[in-house]
Amino acid sequence: VRDGNGVKGLVDSGVSEVPERYIQPPRERIKKHDSGVCDAPPIDLSKLNGAEHEKVVDEIARAAESLGFFQVVNHGVPLELLESLKAAAHTFFSLSPEKKAVYCSGVSPSPRVKYGTSFVPEKEKALEWKDYISMTFTSEEEALQYWPNQCKEVALEYLKLSTKMVRDIVEVLIGKLGVTLKDSEMERLLGMKMVNMNYYPACPNPDLTVGVGRHSDMGAITVLLQDGIGGLYVKVDEQNDADKEEWLEIPPIPGALVINIGDTLQILSNGKYKSAEHRVRTTSSQSRVSVPVFTLPKVTERIGPLAEVVEKDGLARYRQVLLQDYMKNFFGNAHAGKKSLDFAR
Ligand code: SIN
Ligand code: FE2
Repeated sequence: VRDGNGVKGLVDSGVSEVPERYIQPPRERIKKHDSGVCDAPPIDLSKLNGAEHEKVVDEIARAAESLGFFQVVNHGVPLELLESLKAAAHTFFSLSPEKKAVYCSGVSPSPRVKYGTSFVPEKEKALEWKDYISMTFTSEEEALQYWPNQCKEVALEYLKLSTKMVRDIVEVLIGKLGVTLKDSEMERLLGMKMVNMNYYPACPNPDLTVGVGRHSDMGAITVLLQDGIGGLYVKVDEQNDADKEEWLEIPPIPGALVINIGDTLQILSNGKYKSAEHRVRTTSSQSRVSVPVFTLPKVTERIGPLAEVVEKDGLARYRQVLLQDYMKNFFGNAHAGKKSLDFAR
């Protein structure tokens, strides 16, 4: 799909049935009423600075070890900015196909700005019901020059304002492992940032499609803004039998941001923190948007289980990998649950 039409174009053209190439095999379909809703209250990040510091630290660590997902409030990103972000995403995707096509891979003015549909269409048996624009950050100057006008300012502001929260959370998690990283090490671990805008057009039959198929994220942590529509599901345990697996919906909470642990932290912690498998269901009546910020190590970094943790555990569950290689494997294959982690085994 190398044009600007995307799934949105398909829907705008008036399709009343899901085209064959978007129909998922039965195992991948998401049955709405099979899942419960995650009822964990959001974690108040402002309390990290007060008398309840230890309690909040424990809450964060417990969530990272169990579900790998939690929500946060008082996160330092103004609520008006969250509203502007969702509006900007709608504005961008409502552009004409010609205007969006400018950002397709191969023609985009910057290799770090990419508009597309699904994840890796050439590798997928069934396509995901999603259009996206992905923007990798190198400098403010570059962002202002190349990111789409419709969203560059708000996306940059979101990135900037979420940076402290990301650092605070990662510091808490690394600290709980009994490790203190130097500023320069922390910098390298959190050296690459990417912000995406996802658009899931209203779908004629949500029972047959997925917005995003099962996957884990590859970075350290992801900060995700979702709108009020819902549809984000996380897998509860490592059960591989499709009939027995259990999913929980991460419900939209006004003003909250969703945090999830990525492969990088699972590897660094030698498996203690859980890079959560998740996926997205489509909706028939409305178009959903979400805006994740990914924080990853620099591509030139080597990641592996932290030495102190390996010593405590008595074995390394993952090998050392160059981030560049990990990334190539991740973005070179279709979403397939937590299969991306096999690359580090
Ligand atoms: C993703 O995990 O790729 C997207 C999550 C979402 O849209 O809620
Ligand atoms: Fe994800």
